Amino acid sequence: MDTRPIGVFDSGLGGLTAVRELQRLLPGEDIIYFGDTGRVPYGSRSRETIIKYGRQDVAFLRTFDLKAIVIACGTVSTTALDLLAAETPIPVWGVVEPAVRAAADATKNRKIGLIGTQATIRSGAYERMLAGLDPEAEVLSGACPLFVPLVENGRFQPGDLVVETVAAEYLAPFRATGVDTLILGCTHYPLLTDIIGRYMGPGVTLINTGATCARQVADILTRRDALAKPGKAGVSRYYVSDSTEGFAQLAGIFLGRDVGDHVEQVDIWRY
Ligand code: DGL
Repeated sequence: MDTRPIGVFDSGLGGLTAVRELQRLLPGEDIIYFGDTGRVPYGSRSRETIIKYGRQDVAFLRTFDLKAIVIACGTVSTTALDLLAAETPIPVWGVVEPAVRAAADATKNRKIGLIGTQATIRSGAYERMLAGLDPEAEVLSGACPLFVPLVENGRFQPGDLVVETVAAEYLAPFRATGVDTLILGCTHYPLLTDIIGRYMGPGVTLINTGATCARQVADILTRRDALAKPGKAGVSRYYVSDSTEGFAQLAGIFLGRDVGDHVEQVDIWRY
């Protein structure tokens, strides 16, 4: 048994895709979430800046006594996972490996699409891992830089003309190529599942990187006997680097629970 909380971070709302699944699978776990809403987006920034931000995010989370840290951000996972894991004395897990395994299992025609931020696509991390698992699989990849700001502004509801138009433009090459599996390589993108799913059609499996990662974390903690005390309800606390109101409102919609009293602002530059 390990009663310490799980730390989770992202540049903003995206990492809640991992939190939602963790809360569903492991309702007894305490979670400390950090969303760097004052500096989102990460995906258009240089490798050096992403590493610097990732280090500060980990340093802030390490002010709590945690059992593990989940990098619920494709950009930081693809750019800085090895480095952050090597520097941190508790386990640090990212989203790439579980998503790639899920995609390799799901595909039938071995044509896999990958969408992510510019930094994620530039890193080639998903493609490298997939080539190791299935060298015959074909990967078509592309960046969708407008998705993160749209999601952060609450524009993730089906029927929103702006986001539907942007999605159609980004996704047209993937539909044309006939991929049967699409990795949502940025954790913000699963908030657009209905829109992306409807555009791609029912024959395309969408891989939700945040949720897939959460399932792997749940498996590992269960196998290691590192879960909190059975029977106790877990508490999630949320920290953001910009004002709490906007985050609390959107997080509440996405998580389906009121988080208002559990959100605090932190000055991430201090870490
Ligand atoms: N959710 C992050 C990711 O998975 C955010 C990207 C960003 O801030 O640009 O890549």
